[in-house]
Amino acid sequence: MKKIIIAIDGHSSCGKSTMAKQLAKEIGYVYVDTGAMYRAVTLYAMRNGFFPDAGINEAELKAAIDAGKIHISFKFNPETGRPDTYLNEENVEEEIRQMAVSNRVSPIAALPFVRALLTEQQKAMGEEKGIVMDGRDIGTAVFPQAELKVFVTASARVRAQRRYDELMGKAKTQAERDALNFDEILKNVEERDYIDSHREVAPLRQAEDALVLDNSNLTREEQSAWLLERYKERVG
Ligand code: DC
Repeated sequence: MKKIIIAIDGHSSCGKSTMAKQLAKEIGYVYVDTGAMYRAVTLYAMRNGFFPDAGINEAELKAAIDAGKIHISFKFNPETGRPDTYLNEENVEEEIRQMAVSNRVSPIAALPFVRALLTEQQKAMGEEKGIVMDGRDIGTAVFPQAELKVFVTASARVRAQRRYDELMGKAKTQAERDALNFDEILKNVEERDYIDSHREVAPLRQAEDALVLDNSNLTREEQSAWLLERYKERVG
């Protein structure tokens, strides 16, 4: 069967990655979470003190990128059946999902030199096709030629609730659970929507030829079934 490129874009926490991962598993494609790549760069910047109170130290981050100090990769985790994100050979999958990173990732993802680096790596990952990639600009900037493009959305409240439930499920202690605040998560979701859609380089927008999926009222199974059908139509 012919291999294609599947681009899944949309707002944060709308369940894109869940459906993208599920599809990749079912059809034996490689799955790439590009948000994880922006998160890993953000973590690198945080760890190296590039986030002073006033904002990001762009010059130092750019110097680190130019010097090839930031290497991001994915390795399949047989325990979870999913790829984990590695920053310079360290597994950072859990750390990049923390609120501290979520709160800082949008301004990092707006920097043109960060986007240039990651877009180039993403294009290289798709050279052999057979890939499901999720993000914000996959159907518009990374793979405008993708055979199947989906733009996923859901209301901000529904998305904040999903993120809250996910973080609650992952919290290991009562203190971690007590620290979770729905309003703070909703604010983060809304702020990221705004920054992601208004940045100058590759803003979040729907590709003209993308299929739109509002999954506010769909179960995971329903959206996975919908996506599988669209894939079958494309490979015909
Ligand atoms: O999908 P996510 O929430 O893990 O994405 C993290 C951030 O990275 C989000 O604020 C938007 C940004 N991002 C982006 O600008 N372009 C992408 N292709 C993927 C993510």
